[in-house]
Amino acid sequence: MARARRQYICQQCGAVHPKWTGKCEDCDAWNSLAEEIEEKAPGPAGRARGQKVAMESLRSSAPPLERISTGIPEFDRVLGGGLVPGSATLIGGDPGIGKSTLLLQTVCRMAESGNRAAYFSGEESADQIRMRAQRLGVANTSEDLVGIATTTDAANIAASLAAAPDTALAIIDSIQTMHLPTVESGPGTVSQVRASAHELIRSAKRQRTAVLIVGHVTKDGAIAGPKVLEHMVDTVLHFEGDRSHHFRILRGMKNRFGPTDEIGVFEMSGAGLTEVANPSELFLSDRREDVSGAVVFAGIEGTRPVLVEIQALVAPSSMANPRRNVVGWDTGRLSMLAAVLEARLGLPLSGRDIFLNVAGGVRIMEPAADLAVAAALISSVTGRPCNKNTVVFGEVGLAAEVRRVAHPEQRLKEAAKLGFERAIMPDMKGKPIDKAGMMTNLVSSLSELMETLGGID
Ligand code: TYD
Ligand code: MG
Repeated sequence: MARARRQYICQQCGAVHPKWTGKCEDCDAWNSLAEEIEEKAPGPAGRARGQKVAMESLRSSAPPLERISTGIPEFDRVLGGGLVPGSATLIGGDPGIGKSTLLLQTVCRMAESGNRAAYFSGEESADQIRMRAQRLGVANTSEDLVGIATTTDAANIAASLAAAPDTALAIIDSIQTMHLPTVESGPGTVSQVRASAHELIRSAKRQRTAVLIVGHVTKDGAIAGPKVLEHMVDTVLHFEGDRSHHFRILRGMKNRFGPTDEIGVFEMSGAGLTEVANPSELFLSDRREDVSGAVVFAGIEGTRPVLVEIQALVAPSSMANPRRNVVGWDTGRLSMLAAVLEARLGLPLSGRDIFLNVAGGVRIMEPAADLAVAAALISSVTGRPCNKNTVVFGEVGLAAEVRRVAHPEQRLKEAAKLGFERAIMPDMKGKPIDKAGMMTNLVSSLSELMETLGGID
């Protein structure tokens, strides 16, 4: 007889507690424990007998990984060159951001190049999916090779995949709706998510079907459910964007088969997602060219590179206490930078109003933005626009020295990807870096920044 044991699992961190409490003692989350029943496999008590495993040499002449193109180059780029057969990929993203749209387009593109693909949805009916396919204009391209099914039973999906071993790609939309009948807790709970994902990944690996799993995200942007889901899969992607804007970014967070610092850029239109060939146009689309006081900062958000425009306006003040108005940056930091620019460089800022705005509603926390803000202030005072193909990053100290910042290569790579050509950045003190094809102006002090900006017209 199987023995069932009640336990309480934190839905945030996956910690197991024998008793219910209001707060998880491991991650301090409130009200996150859910009751789940653990099934103990019947069998003789005592240690399991193991068998010797065969060891292999690291040296081997294995051929390079074969990959299947998704038919969407931006998607392939993020995956590191295409889908690896048998790999498991998790795609997270806010509701309504376009995950189902992207994946439906992917199965159809795959089918166009002769690959069999299956789309298992636990969220939408087959009619809804068909209607979307019609709207996307992909309904008739690949009737025989694309199969859609509405099911929430992971065991049925595994059996269906086993019955069609030539399936190249299976989509699971979404893992939070899936369940295994053998696990006694509701869909979306940690046990169910973990068990269903395990079953699906195992069956996909067995017959070398690539599986793309949609995962919901919580309000802090993490994929809902235990971290263990992210550990189980080979690749984790985030599909993100601001719903009030039409661009979407597909970003690699983990990839066992390629780099994670690649992004894919898409635009959501009436006919689905289209790839964006030149993303800088879209990102900085409202940017006026060659306006003084506007500088593009190459920043890092968490582990992600982001490019944002910083705008400064220095104007004569009629007030006894000139204004320092800041949106999206730290007011104290601006005062410090203004004092350094005035005291060390003689830039006339006192007695003038300073307005600083980070365009697009982004808030920047990094000290690496100092140099970009300094460049914007200098450009606004001199009236000389900063070259529009230039990005700026670096930290500034009280002695007007420019300090090195983390991840210069990631910033340069993102800037190059977005079509920029030149970077004004800290002197790397002889440390070789990959410039990703960008020209660099290395500055070690604010006076060198001033010279560099004077030279750009
Ligand atoms: P969807 O793929 O359902 O999002 P998710 O699966 O991530 O929850 O995308 C839904 C949104 O996309 C919806 O708000 C409408 C929009 N959309 C378009 O703008 N154009 C289209 O062609 C399609 C299919 C959807
Ligand atoms: Mg969806």
